[in-house]
Amino acid sequence: LKSLSPDFSNCVDAIKPDGKPVNCCPKSTSAAEISDFVPNSVAATTRVRAAAQSVSGAANMAKYKKAIDLMKNLPADDPRNFTQQANVHCAYCDGGYNQEGYSDLKFGIHESWLFFPFHRWYLYFFEKICGKLLEDETFALPFWNWDSPSGMVIPAMFNEIGSPLYDRRRNQDHLPPAVADLNWDEDVLPVRVNPETQIKYNLSIMYKQMITNATTPRLFMGQPVRAGDDITMKCGAGSIEIAPHNTMHTWTGNQWRRQRGYTGPGDPREPNTENMGVFYSAARDPIFYPHHANIDRLWTIWVNKLHGKVFTDPNWLETSFVFYNEDAYPVRVKVKDCLDLSRLGYAYEETPIPWIDAKP
Ligand code: C2O
Repeated sequence: LKSLSPDFSNCVDAIKPDGKPVNCCPKSTSAAEISDFVPNSVAATTRVRAAAQSVSGAANMAKYKKAIDLMKNLPADDPRNFTQQANVHCAYCDGGYNQEGYSDLKFGIHESWLFFPFHRWYLYFFEKICGKLLEDETFALPFWNWDSPSGMVIPAMFNEIGSPLYDRRRNQDHLPPAVADLNWDEDVLPVRVNPETQIKYNLSIMYKQMITNATTPRLFMGQPVRAGDDITMKCGAGSIEIAPHNTMHTWTGNQWRRQRGYTGPGDPREPNTENMGVFYSAARDPIFYPHHANIDRLWTIWVNKLHGKVFTDPNWLETSFVFYNEDAYPVRVKVKDCLDLSRLGYAYEETPIPWIDAKP
């Protein structure tokens, strides 16, 4: 078997796009301390993720705000502290770990078939940590429903200055009522279109990425990567990872202007499109998690309503990741154990899917 796993016990500095190192390592862990995650034996959904802009989503949002506040106030070295949680993403994305058994090869979770399962597990633990801190096991993340017209703006609660959900490192031109551009290109000067046109355009992007360009697991989920592959050489992202996933990251992050040498209004302090627009800092913005909950939801829609199957390659199924759980213990999880949501204990509230018949 050539399934990947990270050498979690030997974390090193991650490297930012400008070449500078950044330390995102969790507190050090010996291999012996890591235990295997035990999946639920019974399927039981207790947590329902709802759209941030919906009525049930408002309840998710209020609890979410509280949970982020609690996480931010944990001791800095608690693996459940908000910064530590954000660093989990940084270390996994920007070269914090090698592949187990390969001292010269990096582990990585973007641009491949690891994209969906890694982020599902990451959110799973993040949500459980929130629930633990809130003393509410039914806590479920809100999802940023940017694939539906009513969700195509930054949800209101993220915009309150001083709130634990606020992040000043966002593109100030994209605050409400700006309608998201699901096909945002940070390297091109934006052409402003009216909101109705943008919404129509977004729905046809969704149709393309979920249906037209997503007819096989490889096209939708990304290309295989196995132990021993040089993942830095791969560019095997699936349709949704490319857009709207990447595009909504850079649309939200600050400072697209730098690339254009544009000196109009905007914040020159974030040279790499921080926070959301670059891997090492993306998860420092609390909007990251609702953004990824929507990505995860789109995976379930593709499986349940559109395509019906995922990879069956044992190399994918046996791939593992390590996370600190809600009790701050390190656990090793496998891709195969995240495929049945009811065993993970959560589900998505059913909402209309307006793009499903938006065939361009
Ligand atoms: Cu790991 Cu949205 O990126």
